[in-house]
Amino acid sequence: MSTTLCEKVVREGREFVRVPKGLANVIIDQTTISGVDPEGKETIYRGYLISDIGKHASFEEAAYLILYGELPCDEELKEFSRKLNSERWIPTKLIDALKTVPITHPMYYGAFGVLLLGMYDPNPDDMSRDTLYDRAIKIIAKLPVIFANGWYLSRHGHEIKPDQSLRHAGDVLRMILGGGIMPGDIEIRAFESSLVLYMDHGFNASTFTNRVIASTLSDMYSAVAGAIGALKGPLHGGANQRALEMMLEIGEPEKARAYVEEKLKKKEKIMGFGHRVYKVHDPRTDVLREWLSKLAEYNPEARKFLAMIDELEKAMWELKKIPSNVDLYTAALYHVLGIPKDLYTPIFAIARVVGWTAHYIEQVTHNKIIRPKEEYVGPTGFKYIPIEERCKR
Ligand code: SDX
Repeated sequence: MSTTLCEKVVREGREFVRVPKGLANVIIDQTTISGVDPEGKETIYRGYLISDIGKHASFEEAAYLILYGELPCDEELKEFSRKLNSERWIPTKLIDALKTVPITHPMYYGAFGVLLLGMYDPNPDDMSRDTLYDRAIKIIAKLPVIFANGWYLSRHGHEIKPDQSLRHAGDVLRMILGGGIMPGDIEIRAFESSLVLYMDHGFNASTFTNRVIASTLSDMYSAVAGAIGALKGPLHGGANQRALEMMLEIGEPEKARAYVEEKLKKKEKIMGFGHRVYKVHDPRTDVLREWLSKLAEYNPEARKFLAMIDELEKAMWELKKIPSNVDLYTAALYHVLGIPKDLYTPIFAIARVVGWTAHYIEQVTHNKIIRPKEEYVGPTGFKYIPIEERCKR
């Protein structure tokens, strides 16, 4: 596989382009939804800086922006919030199905639940514009209820009921914490900000997976289920849970450097660091650092994990010139909020499903099936031999 950016290859008189493995630094298509700036200064959501939206916008405002391309006015926001809240429930038959799931990684519950939503949709292949937007809002609203019930039904036997009188982020956090205690305002705003920052991020692996499925004109439920599968991986959305496990294993901030040196010596990856596009700085970490600092004013665990992050960032920059990424910070924030660590990646999905559904709609609107060309380098010229002759000893 080539390492140069791209090289022309001619096969039987036809021209092809060979690109680096993993499509590294390859622009595959255009989008007006979000753009990731390698310098980290101009990462954009529909024309706005991601850090600006992440800091100030509610979940509903940001979701409206990602889906429709502009920030909502008062009436539009009220109507969108009403629709989102009214869809935040799941049918009894889905609850019954979730009562049968085993204790396993909760990302399976999300994919399973979304596909069940598709099974109960009388016309999942209806691609009319209004239906696509209604379906997007339905999946965005119901995904957190699916994850929370998969988790609490399998582990504690109790159903988590949504509270549609709450705003989305607050109710999601309440359900994720077991449906009882209502967290404080700062905790809810910090959590909401993390959801907004996670909402979209160019053609990352899960969004690209979603677009490949959309490009075959398969349905939105299948595209979201596929994207959940891609996000689950430890090199992508699964990194936040592993970053927390790493910080718990290190224990104290002053032990961070020795831990990093040890891992790097063994050529192991440090979770929550590195990025395919950001080589200097992930701008999302700035907003999350502000929230962690606010919580650190009265929460000693937040103080300790901020110190841990500082030590890890210092070590990774000095030793490898590799910056931290969003997952290191969400790991610390979700730990401070008391969220079970296995639910960190589902939270990422609960946010990123806004981007996935927006990209699905963009892809099917300006579609061309995504089907790259392989370069076959295996043997040729073999002829079939009947088995009685083939495997003579
Ligand atoms: C997300 O794409 C997105 O936008 C993703 C995301 C989003 O919002 O959707 O931002 C969310 O997924 C963030 C990334 C979360 N993943 C992790 O934190 C897992 C650890 N990170 C690495 O696995 C890695 O940095 C990737 C997968 C994120 C990026 O991989 P690349 O671009 O393919 O880079 P690479 O693996 O080829 O690494 C280049 C070099 C290698 O060294 P050499 O072999 O050339 O000597 O950098 C090293 C790597 O070993 N390296 C690391 C490292 N990341 C890269 N070394 C130690 N620890 C790391 N974390």
